[in-house]
Amino acid sequence: MDQNKEDRNKGHQSNQPFGKPPAWNRYLARVGDRPPTPLAHAALAALRARHAPSREAVILDLGCGNGRDSQLFIDAGYTVVGIDKTREAIDAACSALPEHFRGIVTAIEDSLAQPEWRQPVLVHASFVLPFLMEADFRQVFDAMRGAAGRGALLSYHLLGPRDDWAARDVRVWSREEVKRLNSGLKFHSHDETENDSETVVGALKHWHVHEIVAFDARPMASL
Ligand SMILES: C[S@@+](CC[C@H](N)C(=O)[O-])C[C@H]1O[C@@H](n2cnc3c(N)ncnc32)[C@H](O)[C@@H]1O
Repeated sequence: MDQNKEDRNKGHQSNQPFGKPPAWNRYLARVGDRPPTPLAHAALAALRARHAPSREAVILDLGCGNGRDSQLFIDAGYTVVGIDKTREAIDAACSALPEHFRGIVTAIEDSLAQPEWRQPVLVHASFVLPFLMEADFRQVFDAMRGAAGRGALLSYHLLGPRDDWAARDVRVWSREEVKRLNSGLKFHSHDETENDSETVVGALKHWHVHEIVAFDARPMASL
C-alpha cells in the first residue's frame, strides 16, 4: 500500500473521518426538492423484476436524508424504513412521506439488530457508506451481505481513488477493490463515473463514484 493511502486509512480509522464530522444539517437545508438519485432509479428497475411492488415488501434506506429516494420507492408501491442519525433528516422525511415510511433516528452501525434488517427486499445506501468509520463500514457491509443472502437486492455508492474527498480520509475503492468487496455477489450493474460538479452545499469538486446494484445469486435452498 502506498504511504498516502496508508495514512488515509489510518485517518479513516480514527474518529474524525472528515477532519471534523460532516455538517449534515447544512446538507439537509440545501438538498431541498432535488430528484431521486440515478442509483435509486437503477435499484427500482432491478427490484421490480424480483419483487412485485407490495406494501408488505420493506426497503431499508440507510442514511436516507430527507427521503428523496424513499419517495421514489414509496411511489412505486413499496414500504420504506429510513435510518439516519440526524434527527432533522428523519423529521423532514417523515413530514414529506406521511404514509408507508417509518423513520428511525440512529447510526446505521447501531441499527443492525433491528427487526427491519431480517427480510428487506432492498438495502439502499445512497452517498452514505463512504462516511462510515472503517470498522463500522465492515459491520454494515456484512449485514448488507447477510440481507442479500436472504434475498435482498443491494444498491449503494462508494467513492473511487480520484475523488477529491480521497484526500480527506474518506475511504475510496478502486474497481478491483470493489470487485473483491463484492466477491460472492453478482453485479446487476456497476457504473463508475467521474465528473467535476458542485456538491449539494455548493463546493466544486471532482467526483469519482461507483454506483452499484448487486445481489446474491446463490439459490435460497443452499443457504
Ligand atoms: C450525503 S447525505 C445522503 C442522503 C440521502 N441518502 C441522499 O442521497 O439524498 C448522508 C446522510 O447520511 C446520514 N449519515 C451519515 N453517517 C451516518 C451514520 N453513520 N448512520 C446514519 N446516518 C448517517 C447523514 O445524516 C445524512 O442525512
